[in-house]
Amino acid sequence: MTVLTATTGVRGGVSVAGWGIALPERRVTNEDLAARLDTSDAWIVERSGIRERRWAGPGETTGPLALAATRRALERAGRSADQVDIIAVATTTPERPIPSTAALVAAGLGTDAGALDLNAACAGFVYGLTAVSALLQAGVARTAVLVGADTMTSVVDPDDRATAVLFGDGAGAVVLTGDAGGPGDPGAPGLVASDLVNDPDGVGLLVVPAGGSAQPASAATVAAGQHYLQMDGREVFRRAVRAVERSILRALDRAGVGPDDIALFVPHQANARIVDAVLSRTGLDPTRTSGSVERYGNTSAASIPLALAEAADAGALHEGDLVLLCGFGAGLTVGTALWRWGRPA
Ligand code: ACO
Repeated sequence: MTVLTATTGVRGGVSVAGWGIALPERRVTNEDLAARLDTSDAWIVERSGIRERRWAGPGETTGPLALAATRRALERAGRSADQVDIIAVATTTPERPIPSTAALVAAGLGTDAGALDLNAACAGFVYGLTAVSALLQAGVARTAVLVGADTMTSVVDPDDRATAVLFGDGAGAVVLTGDAGGPGDPGAPGLVASDLVNDPDGVGLLVVPAGGSAQPASAATVAAGQHYLQMDGREVFRRAVRAVERSILRALDRAGVGPDDIALFVPHQANARIVDAVLSRTGLDPTRTSGSVERYGNTSAASIPLALAEAADAGALHEGDLVLLCGFGAGLTVGTALWRWGRPA
């Protein structure tokens, strides 16, 4: 495995001022899927832990979901759109190829904030948290919105039982402020350690072949189903467990803390069995692990902010808590962020 980025110098100085989520209305249960695909509730629950997921209808795609989650996060933070300096949207299913989804969110808010998308698949929110923290600490921005949003149903073949049962749609956003004490203060809120890596041997395991510059969408690519996600699920599973374990242990080691110091573990919600395997390999506490895969399936870049926001709403996070966030996805990208939870003073 190649270590592309290993951040240890960026520490503290960033607070979470607010958070918000947005989900499509339509609930799709395992029974709904079993009614039209050769699958069953028992198979899906046993292999993935998923019982239902949300599927986007008209007006509920990545852009509107990201905008709705952002509005809720800003409201919770007590901030107006004109106070935001930068909007970053982590997504692998943007509203359109051009312009960025972040630009659409900025337009929806009516703000001239800087806007960028970043694509690290299901690890996108963790990569974004590291990148946006660095912008805040560098003084490039004082207030930022980071969104994880995906409409996986836009790239999943609804008739492919191997993928259709796993994915869902949603968005989660946080408002981050760079006004929370100085970087370098070990007790300050914000990023304590991060580990951003990539498994180059896994680059072909999760692919949407057409629709990009190599193979622009055409009648032929659509007829061949090349606009749909192709996944070697078994190999992704095998590689993800090992890569996630290593990434988490590196991040904990860099911070000089152990599994018992973690108040809340927020893993990417792809599959309950992957999370269970990671828990047993790392010694992290299952009772202090946040999960929503049962209700939302794999929502890609949205899964970590959804779980984080639900934990915050449930009162599971307290000032000074260490939160461990870990995502993995197509690439194969893996990202871990160890975060000290804190609201702005
Ligand atoms: N219902 C019933 N049977 C099914 C279904 C289904 N929905 N899907 C596959 N099967 C069958 C297969 O055809 C296969 O049948 P066979 O033995 O006759 O060939 C059998 O079930 C076993 O298939 P496997 O793929 O070996 O099943 P596995 O135990 O590996 O579970 C799963 C499959 C759930 C996909 C698992 O491999 C997994 O979760 N992998 C990780 C995938 C993942 O996390 N992807 C997202 C990454 S994040 C991102 O960037 C998008």
